[in-house]
Amino acid sequence: MLSREQNDFITRTGKGTPAGELMRRYWQPAALVDELAGNRPIRPLRLFGEDLVLFKDERGRYGLVGRHCPHRGTDLAYGRLEDGGLRCPFHGWLFDIAGKCLETPAEPPESNLCANIKQKAYPVVEKSGILFAYLGPGEPPAFPDFDTFIWRSNNGLGITVGDLSHQLAEYFGTKDGVLVTSVADDSAAFKSGIKAGDVITSFNGSEVTSPSDLRQRIRALQDGEEFTVGVMRDKKPLTLKGKAETTRPRRTYRSVV
Ligand code: FES
Repeated sequence: MLSREQNDFITRTGKGTPAGELMRRYWQPAALVDELAGNRPIRPLRLFGEDLVLFKDERGRYGLVGRHCPHRGTDLAYGRLEDGGLRCPFHGWLFDIAGKCLETPAEPPESNLCANIKQKAYPVVEKSGILFAYLGPGEPPAFPDFDTFIWRSNNGLGITVGDLSHQLAEYFGTKDGVLVTSVADDSAAFKSGIKAGDVITSFNGSEVTSPSDLRQRIRALQDGEEFTVGVMRDKKPLTLKGKAETTRPRRTYRSVV
C-alpha cells in the first residue's frame, strides 16, 4: 500500500510539485471546442490547481488566462468579449489571448500603466475538437502529429493542417494563419499549387485564424466550386486558385518541406 507521502508524490499536480512540474511540460487537454459554443464563449477552468478562464476572441482565437483580474481580483469569467480581448467587468481592463493588457479605460490618457501589466496566459491549440493547453515554462513543444489529431479534408481538398506557433508566425512574417503539414498527390490542393510548409492566411478573401476556422469554410464548398487561397511561402504572399473535388484523393502525403 502506498504511504501518504508516496500518494501525494504521484497525485499532487499543483505548481512546484514533482508531478505537476512534469505534466506541465506537455500539452494537456483543457476543454472541448463544443464547451465554448454559443454567443458567449467564456468558460472558467481549474487545471493543475490553477484557476483560469478559457475564451475565444472575436477573431476565433483561443486564450487561456488567469481567472482573477490583476487589478482588484475580479473574476474574469464574468468578463465581456469585445475589442480584441476579454474585458474585466469591474473597471474595464482589457486583455488579449496572450495576457497583454490592451486598455485601462479609467486611467488618464497619458497613463502608461497598461504597458506594465501582463495577465498570466497560456497557449492553446485545437486538435480534433479538443483544446489543449501548455502550462509549462518557455516555448511549448511541437504538438505531436498523431493520426487522431491530423485533420484530413473529407471534401477532397486533400491537405493536413496544423496550428502556427508564435515562432513560425514570426518566421513567416504573418500574424495569423495555419500551417500546411502535407498535401495529397492529385488532390485539389495539389493542383492549385498549395505545398506542404505553406502558411494559409486567407480563404476566399477572409482571414484564416485557426485550423477549425479553415475546416468550416472548406466544408461549405460544393463540388467543383472555385476557391482562392492566400498563402505565405518563403516570406512572400501568394494567391492560389483551385476547384473543390469531392473525389477522395489517393492517400499519399508529401512530407513537410
Ligand atoms: S478589477 Fe478588473 S479592472 Fe479593476
